[in-house]
Amino acid sequence: MTIGVCYFPEHWPRERWETDIEAMADAGFEYVRMAEFSWAVLEPERGQFDFEWLDEAVELIGEHGMQAVLCTPTATPPKWLVDERPGILQEDSDGTVREHGSRRHYCFNSTAYREETERIVSRVADRYADDPHVAGWQTDNEFGCHGTVRCYCADCADAFREYLAEKYDSIEALNDAWGTTFWSQRYPSFEAIDPPGPTPSDHHPSRLLEYARFSSNAVVEYNRLHVDLLREANSEWFVTHNFMGRFSNLDAYAVSEDLDLVSWDSYPTGFVQDRLAGEPTPAQLRAGDPDQIGMDHDLYRSALDRPFWVMEQQPGDINWPPYAPQPGDGAMRLWAHHATAHGADAVLYFRWRRCLEGQEQYHAGLRKQDGSPDRGYHGAKQAAAELAEVGEDDHVEAPVAVLFDFENLWALTEQPHSPDFDYWELLERFYGAARARGTQVDVVHPTTPLEEYDAVVAPALHLVDDVLATRLTAYVENGGELLLGPRTGVKDAYNKLRPVPQPGPLADLVGATVDRHESLPSQLDTRVRNVNGENTYQFQVWAEWLETATATPLFVYDADGVENDRAAITRRDVGDGTVVYCGVWPSESLADELIEPLLARADVPSSDRLPDGVRVNVRGGRTWITNFSSDRIRIKPATDVTWLIGTATIDAYDVAVAEQRVLDGLSIEPLG
Ligand code: GLA
Ligand code: GLA
Repeated sequence: MTIGVCYFPEHWPRERWETDIEAMADAGFEYVRMAEFSWAVLEPERGQFDFEWLDEAVELIGEHGMQAVLCTPTATPPKWLVDERPGILQEDSDGTVREHGSRRHYCFNSTAYREETERIVSRVADRYADDPHVAGWQTDNEFGCHGTVRCYCADCADAFREYLAEKYDSIEALNDAWGTTFWSQRYPSFEAIDPPGPTPSDHHPSRLLEYARFSSNAVVEYNRLHVDLLREANSEWFVTHNFMGRFSNLDAYAVSEDLDLVSWDSYPTGFVQDRLAGEPTPAQLRAGDPDQIGMDHDLYRSALDRPFWVMEQQPGDINWPPYAPQPGDGAMRLWAHHATAHGADAVLYFRWRRCLEGQEQYHAGLRKQDGSPDRGYHGAKQAAAELAEVGEDDHVEAPVAVLFDFENLWALTEQPHSPDFDYWELLERFYGAARARGTQVDVVHPTTPLEEYDAVVAPALHLVDDVLATRLTAYVENGGELLLGPRTGVKDAYNKLRPVPQPGPLADLVGATVDRHESLPSQLDTRVRNVNGENTYQFQVWAEWLETATATPLFVYDADGVENDRAAITRRDVGDGTVVYCGVWPSESLADELIEPLLARADVPSSDRLPDGVRVNVRGGRTWITNFSSDRIRIKPATDVTWLIGTATIDAYDVAVAEQRVLDGLSIEPLG
């Protein structure tokens, strides 16, 4: 495991490069990523290439014992290209063209842009095909950032119609599958179907889901264009792409199938402000939410079931969230350890030095604007030394799988049926309950083989087909422990309700059906009661009134007089396995009431329930304890421990690494 950095030599005088690169090597860094926004420098005019600067930077990196990671520069088509071929620009759904002047202004379906992409990618790939200092490539940069997966231009309209014609043999089949009789929406031909533009009321959900699939798929194809050219030039290179945190519009599993390595960009104090429900806590503003970041680490590790990279790690204060608090002392180092504990093999900080020009002047680097070390530099350097010392690079073996699917996300986002229903938040509720017991979790697509997992949690499998129902049934019959969440088994693949009660094809397995559902504003009293005790627990947002057949109620409603005592959560034992159906969005304590017995039945090692912000990870033979809270904590392992990093008492935003696996019976106490 190792540290690296993102560098923009084109922003600095040549005389400075050697000083910078030497300092990177001195800090113990191994990788330097470059050139993702450099098209206008590499090709200032059509056909006039200038590679010399990049050759020199790569050479210097190699001379200092490091390796370069290069990027295809397509995230920023240069002005001369935009002027020559304006059709490459993205268009909003209201027809507004997204102009040159920031980045990501091209359309994935533009045939002109695909031609230009082939031209520039083959050129840069050929240039470095024999360079021993280039380890691999990143395709483009953050596909879809700034809301750019879905474009609505004329090229997209043509490509959407082709996509539909290929998928549905006839227009009648499409009309039937979508159900376009509703509001007289029947289409006479594929040519009559446009990308979804502005309408007086909601769009047809089947059309929206298909547009979401089509748009994501265009990025998959576009990425593949890069991958094929890079592999052709040098098959030894790794090819990766840097995905984003909690990013909804692109199916990262589908893109990853074409990659050798999955990487992503982690900005913990930004993400708690712009993509987490509710107000962040003071500790989260200083260090982020370890489960929000952890779930992305686990998703991107699971996408190819191998170690991943953090291609961009927050280096300090950043420019794009509403506020820019300085991260807590130690947080930059903590994030590198936390990523490594989740299975990262490399963490590269973004960026080396605060930039003097352009949109990101208010974004820290590891170095200040004058080139001297900033806070992040010290954290990164320390992390590099410590990770070399820890030396654990095994793949993380997770006993529990959380099933996640972008199609469910798109369908639920289109019809959330409550302003508070957010699929990511619901996932994190169940995921966080497992993580609060120290259990390592894979976040996998539902088509992933499940036999290896001791327990499987599916927070909202909204679209379920018969094949998936059969696989989940076999999993439980063969002794698996399955926990299903609310809004499971609701719709078919076309985003239509089924003519049978929820959970549709899973009803036999679950042994219960949903009689009615409701979504709930927070002023209503929302509690369930344990049937084998008198404890009550809060739930929120969503409730399903269950009708049991072969299942047994575990929790019943206990609230404000609406159908009290109806089943809310049920259990059914099937052979050696168990299926629990949870019809509500559980509070943290209710989620723990479901996860703790699930882990026990599955015989999965786990800790006592961990304090908020404190997480434990096992990778290979080592155990990481990461403290994202503002409290000092005392770690109380049940067995003897040798500390490789830290001790049994650590500070806020600090980390300890044990030489052994110490999960079972571990408890951690906040000291305030
Ligand atoms: C993203 C981008 C970078 C930069 C950073 C700023 O991750 O990939 O180019 O804009 O955000 O935090
Ligand atoms: C978005 C992305 C971040 C970062 C910022 C930069 O919020 O998700 O990763 O790139 O934009 O502006």
